[in-house]
Amino acid sequence: MTEAIPLVVQSLFMHDLNSREIVSDVSLHVKRGEVLAIIGESGSGKTSVALSLLGFARPGMRISSGKILIGGTDILSLSGRRKRAFQGGKVSLVPQNPTTSFSPRMSVGKQMAELLAAHGHSGTGMKQLMRDALRSVDLPDDEKFLRRYPFELSGGQLQRIAIAMAFITSPQVIVMDEPTTGLDVSTQQTILELIARLVKSSSASVVYVTHDLAVVNVVADRVAVMLSGRIVEQGSRRQVFAEPSADYTRVLLDAIPRLLTDGPAAAPEAEGAIEFQNILEVKNLHAAHGQVEVVHGISFSVGKGECVGLVGGSGSGKTTTGRCVTGLHSNASGSLLFEGHSMPFAVSSRSKADLSAMQIVFQNPDRSLNPKESIAQSIARAVRLTGLADKAKVGAEVRSLLD
Ligand SMILES: Nc1ncnc2c1ncn2[C@@H]1O[C@H](COP(=O)(O)OP(=O)(O)OP(=O)(O)O)[C@@H](O)[C@H]1O
Ligand SMILES: [Mg+2]
Repeated sequence: MTEAIPLVVQSLFMHDLNSREIVSDVSLHVKRGEVLAIIGESGSGKTSVALSLLGFARPGMRISSGKILIGGTDILSLSGRRKRAFQGGKVSLVPQNPTTSFSPRMSVGKQMAELLAAHGHSGTGMKQLMRDALRSVDLPDDEKFLRRYPFELSGGQLQRIAIAMAFITSPQVIVMDEPTTGLDVSTQQTILELIARLVKSSSASVVYVTHDLAVVNVVADRVAVMLSGRIVEQGSRRQVFAEPSADYTRVLLDAIPRLLTDGPAAAPEAEGAIEFQNILEVKNLHAAHGQVEVVHGISFSVGKGECVGLVGGSGSGKTTTGRCVTGLHSNASGSLLFEGHSMPFAVSSRSKADLSAMQIVFQNPDRSLNPKESIAQSIARAVRLTGLADKAKVGAEVRSLLD
């Protein structure tokens, strides 16, 4: 008997609850040891397809028809215990955002142990698997590290653990949904190298979702291009890059050199430095998490209309610095001068005017928005905080912001 292809998707359709077609007639297959990259613009259906490979659909969506064969078994035909044995056992997922893939209430060691126990491991064999998995992603494998909680680790470290967990049960199929997107540039590079190394040494079939064509060049054997819920082109990486058949693929490929040559950074350089009037001055900022100091006396200023980039490796203190400035981290010392007056670190001690003059956009959109509110409700709440109370005016402001 010939071995079944590890992953075969046949004519998959997905709809939302209003019967809008989100995924249309998607078929693909991935051979043993092969990496298929799914590329396409935001909203084209990549994550929907990725999750369906584990038999999942997000709330508000359903898998309407089609087959997803993992090692010859249609995961969509399974239920209960047999389905759960496949999820994480025969097919695993590395999600886009490491912080949302872990329970905040359990140490990472416990979460790894739970996964392994659910797939039949126990005792010293299980401990050994955990240690090997952590070493394979270049993390410490001691008990102290395993006792840490997700909030005590950086995004890059968490993503390493998520990757280790995806490989730990030796699944036939591994799905990765933009696993490096939420990380800083230098961490992205090391995580990508790590993934490429692990994929090479395992015989798993990998589906790798990304919108970064440079990443495709590093990891993929074959490429599927998605647009509006459909696969418009599928082929070897070389073929898709060198001789794209779909117009849309050509548009995607053309966008790369343009980003490199016409970006805003390239143009104004020759005009010389622009003088800015300082609006924010940070002096000798020290910040700590508990007893551990993570920001050691930094000073910088931001001019009116100026955009200052804070660049550094994972865990270097960028987010903590941003939180100190916006009043969300008060375990800090040093001074903050805003429009010439001194500003306290605690948000609760700041004046109303200072509060509305300074805003933050968080790293992870899915965690910074209240899941119980619609997009319009979330924006309306922020609009009302500016002092606008009239219902019709708030509604009009929300609509104009969404435009
Ligand atoms: N829970 C949901 N209920 C209904 N529609 C949804 C839901 N989640 C996403 N959609 C819609 O489904 C379509 C596909 O979304 P999906 O998240 O799969 O795209 P994507 O290609 O992964 O995008 P991105 O690159 O931004 O991650 C979009 O039109 C989106 O608005
Ligand atoms: Mg997505």
